[in-house]
Amino acid sequence: MDPLRHVKPVVRGLSAYTLKARPAAVKLDQNENPFDLPEDFKRAVVERALARNWARYPEFDPKELCEALARHWGWRADGVLAGNGSNELIEALLVVTVGEGTPVVIPEPTFTLYGLLTQMLGGRLVRVPLGPGLEYDAAAIARARHEHAAPVTIVCSPNNPTGSAIALEDVSRLCDEADGLVVLDEAYHEFSDQDAVPLLARHPNLVVLRTFSKAGALAGLRLGALLASPELVREVNKARLPYNVNFFSQAAALHALERRELLAERVARLRALREALIARLREVDGVRVYPTAANFVLVELLSAEPKAVHEALYARGVLVRDVSSYPRLGRCLRFSVGSAEENEALLRGLREVLAPVEASR
Ligand SMILES: Cc1ncc(COP(=O)(O)O)c(C=O)c1O
Repeated sequence: MDPLRHVKPVVRGLSAYTLKARPAAVKLDQNENPFDLPEDFKRAVVERALARNWARYPEFDPKELCEALARHWGWRADGVLAGNGSNELIEALLVVTVGEGTPVVIPEPTFTLYGLLTQMLGGRLVRVPLGPGLEYDAAAIARARHEHAAPVTIVCSPNNPTGSAIALEDVSRLCDEADGLVVLDEAYHEFSDQDAVPLLARHPNLVVLRTFSKAGALAGLRLGALLASPELVREVNKARLPYNVNFFSQAAALHALERRELLAERVARLRALREALIARLREVDGVRVYPTAANFVLVELLSAEPKAVHEALYARGVLVRDVSSYPRLGRCLRFSVGSAEENEALLRGLREVLAPVEASR
């Protein structure tokens, strides 16, 4: 008896996307928003949910939510699909586009889920390395799309885990060069100065992904969105599971849109904290800081071992992400931008851990 032999061999060969949950006083490992929402915000959401019959399904098509999201981002409501996190919509999009052998162009390194889902669906990954400073190389992406006649290209901007952003002119050019889909994951766009949604009107092959998990401080409630032409959204919608967004999450997102000044103020605060953190990180011996347009910072350790530094920081109560197993990032760690106190704890920990290593060089 070996029931596992019925699982697709490609799946058995893959490693799951997992993260060891480790409690930490200073948690900077998941690019989350360090500022929890205020109690009056949460109460307003609970009030909305209390007014509902919990025994009934939520709306089949969350029309009010999609209309509010469309108004907020400046796109049409029939071109918006809501999801239980944006991850779910990446999956739905790949389900309707990727089959056995379908080439999918992705940058390297990038968010692991794109590769995992593509491979699970039988697709063939075409990895395009970022440039020497981990910047986007749009010409290399264009060449790869052309050479492989790729129906799908995924670009994460700002890119997780590097923080690199692709120029919108390059996105536009990619969309013009071939009719293959260009999927722009803008999970972190609020921390950058870029917004690809205005490009949707000109490019029927562009798909933009958004989430409330980062700037929106709603990672715990799971709400994401896919924006594209209504025709494309209609097709992706076929792979969306029924009632995928519960009414609690819908209520939270609607309330977040009503309280957008609160969230915008926090994003502005985080951007200022990011700049202060980067300036201070540059003063730490033994660290190279990469430019970032997101709410996290990638650093390369010049002589210390990332795994050892990760553990030594954890021993001091600071949890960061060890990204040293990603291609090209063998010497790197990634930190989310935290509150002023959290960033201070990170800097203190780094200096303590790195000083002896640098002194012994
Ligand atoms: C690039 C990128 N896209 C999507 C997500 C996940 O978004 P969601 O929480 O909306 O599923 C993440 C989360 O880390 C991410 O880094």
